Amino acid sequence: MQKKSKPQRNSIQESERPIGVFDSGIGGLTVFKSLRALMPEEDMIYFGDTAHLPYGSKSKASIVQFSVEIARFLCQQGIKALVVACNTSSAVALSEIKKAVSVPVEGVIVPGARACARMASRRIGVIGTERTVRSGAYAKEIKKILPEVRVLQAACPLFVPLVEEGWWNYKVTEDVARIYLKPFQKARVDSLVLGCTHYPVIRSVISRVMGKKVSLIDSGEETAREFQKILESLNLRKKKGRGWSRFYASDDPDRFLRLSRRFLGSKITVKQVLKKNFE
Ligand code: DGL
Repeated sequence: MQKKSKPQRNSIQESERPIGVFDSGIGGLTVFKSLRALMPEEDMIYFGDTAHLPYGSKSKASIVQFSVEIARFLCQQGIKALVVACNTSSAVALSEIKKAVSVPVEGVIVPGARACARMASRRIGVIGTERTVRSGAYAKEIKKILPEVRVLQAACPLFVPLVEEGWWNYKVTEDVARIYLKPFQKARVDSLVLGCTHYPVIRSVISRVMGKKVSLIDSGEETAREFQKILESLNLRKKKGRGWSRFYASDDPDRFLRLSRRFLGSKITVKQVLKKNFE
């Protein structure tokens, strides 16, 4: 049996350690941004697995392998807790990640389902990657809380490359959205879960297509709120100061750098970690 990765111990107090966040690419920055807004004093390390993007079309075995390797790498950087910002990883690899590391781990599916419960929706739509939709993870969690509700799911695989290309407000993106979202319009859903971290980046396009009456649920915002409570309950909140952020990408960081600066609206530096360094 493989040993659990423990965070590096030294004299730094546990609560002073950084938070780890990862996704397959820049999408998880939507969760990062929510965490940063809620907890400006926390130090954060973000990992974008750009060498393996997209996760959504990969097998469960590959996603588990990549996710566990990244979780271990982040533990080696001394994190105190981990946010699995990727919906696809959260849907198929969360239990394996939890087994592999000894820090608290939070995924995005259960918080997203809880956010649905608050909307008093009768017909809920879920969009995500092929792997997330095939896992049925959102439908399962939503039905645990709201057994009567109708859940309609569909994969929108072209959204991820459009977001990674930076085509956030292009006509082609809206055209693609009109095709993918038609079944949800027909079914008259009243809430739509953005079940992939990349989708909140094109939220305005999705909202334009679905109309103002449909509530768009961003699991990332809810995850940030729940994660904050978890840190508080475990006495792991950093008390003061201004948090730093460190970014890693597993492939050439240029595109990641360009898009993340545009998305975060601030200058950042990204370090490339070669796969052999985090296996
Ligand atoms: N952003 C990821 C998610 O939340 C997956 C995108 C991909 O790599 O396919 O599911």
